[in-house]
Amino acid sequence: MDPRPIGVFDSGLGGLTCVKRLMDVMPGEDIIYLGDTGRVPYGGKSRETILKYARQDIAFLRSFDIKAVVAACGTVSTNGLEEIAGDYPIPVFGVADAAAQAAARATRNGKIGLIGTTASIRSRAYDEKILRARPGAEIFKKACPLFVPLVEEGRIGRDDEVLRLVAEGYLRELRDTGIDTLILGCTHYPLIAGTVGEVMGPGVTLIDTGAETAERLRRELAKTGALAARARGGYTYYVTDSAEDFGRSAALFLGTHMEGDVHRVTLEERV
Ligand code: DGL
Repeated sequence: MDPRPIGVFDSGLGGLTCVKRLMDVMPGEDIIYLGDTGRVPYGGKSRETILKYARQDIAFLRSFDIKAVVAACGTVSTNGLEEIAGDYPIPVFGVADAAAQAAARATRNGKIGLIGTTASIRSRAYDEKILRARPGAEIFKKACPLFVPLVEEGRIGRDDEVLRLVAEGYLRELRDTGIDTLILGCTHYPLIAGTVGEVMGPGVTLIDTGAETAERLRRELAKTGALAARARGGYTYYVTDSAEDFGRSAALFLGTHMEGDVHRVTLEERV
């Protein structure tokens, strides 16, 4: 049994979709969340910058006595997280591993789609992970950079015409490839799964990276006897820009009223 909190970070609010899944599968865990809202989005930045930010985010979370880190960010998870994970004495999880394995299991015809930020699509991280789990799979990718700002603006409804137009534009070519599985490779995307699912059609299984990662983390913590024993955990949120209105936006991502405190912090830039 390990009562220490789990540290979770993302460039902004998207990682809260993963937090929601963590809360669902491990309600007894304390969670400390960092949203680097002052620097979001990471998805158009270079690999060096993304890794520098990831190090600073992890250093902040480690200023608390945490037992594991989850990079609830598709962009960080596909841009070198594994290279730096070994630098820390606690386990560091990304969201790409569990999602790639879930997609490899879900596909029937071996054609898997991936949507994500520009940096996630540019990296070959998913290709390698999927091919390891399912040799011979065909992978079709599409960067969808407008999805993150649309989600952050709350344009997530199935009846939102702008979102639908953008989704049609991005997804048409993926639909035409005949994929039967689509990885929502950015933690913002579960909020627009309704529209994405409608555009792709009912024959395409959507993979939620946060959901897969939460289940994987639960299994790993259980294996090492590191789950917390309490019935209900506590939550604390940190952001690098204004904390005002965070509660309202967070509720959207968490799918429920936000419980816990939110604080504004400045990250140590020299890390
Ligand atoms: N939530 C981040 C991800 O999963 C995307 C947002 C960003 O571009 O910073 O990739």
